[in-house]
Amino acid sequence: MIRVYANLEALSHAAAELFAAEARQAVQAHGRFAVALAGGSTPRRTYQLLSQEPLCERVPWQNTHVFWGDERCVPADDPRNNARMAHHTLLDIVPVPSEHVHPMICNSSPQETAVEYEALLHGFFTSGRSQFDLVLLGLGENGHTASLFPGTSVLKEQHRWVAEVYVAEEGLHRLTLTAAAINQAALVVFLVSGSDKAPILRNVLKEAQDPRIIPAQLIKPVDGGLLWLVDRDAARLLRLRKE
Ligand code: 6PG
Repeated sequence: MIRVYANLEALSHAAAELFAAEARQAVQAHGRFAVALAGGSTPRRTYQLLSQEPLCERVPWQNTHVFWGDERCVPADDPRNNARMAHHTLLDIVPVPSEHVHPMICNSSPQETAVEYEALLHGFFTSGRSQFDLVLLGLGENGHTASLFPGTSVLKEQHRWVAEVYVAEEGLHRLTLTAAAINQAALVVFLVSGSDKAPILRNVLKEAQDPRIIPAQLIKPVDGGLLWLVDRDAARLLRLRKE
């Protein structure tokens, strides 16, 4: 399902409301809320709104468990670090227990860190399925999501939940949840804003599927929901029917 908002501000309000609603529902249903956060700039405002009233008090932070969809292997204080952004905008402000916050920390090699993070997830999701209640994702202009980049071998990964990937243009490694792990979620929500995203958004959503070129097309939750929250600029090339 695709929902179009007037601008990033409206989209962010909707995303933050949805986060709070999903969190309450998950805690009511099974006592905890497991979320994987997105990096990039689009979710920044959503995180800010969640850190403020009225939304902050609507999230059951004591029962919330925070993971990441991907991370760059850079020091924790590097501005490119996804966990740093989420800490500054949200996690340092709200009463989420620090032991419930699980950043991907590249202390060892990227390969070892991926194995460690996957082991952490297996310890958390004891059902053997990576059943996040909510996975937030962004969309890159080249069709990547999380750190699933076009043409990389991680796209074929069927079994691992976390993998390392070398991004040549950046000259650094990243860690990412695999599509197999993301697709076990109860709900996956893409946040897409801005006119620059319009061509790729149209290409992701059009019929022809080629996930090697457009990795975001790999995201198809097995039993869960898939929701696109986009702003009008990003949606300008879509032909949408009014509901
Ligand atoms: C990251 C994420 C990436 C991001 C998209 C969209 O950059 O950390 O890995 O998948 O969500 O590139 O980024 P923007 O929100 O900045 O457009």
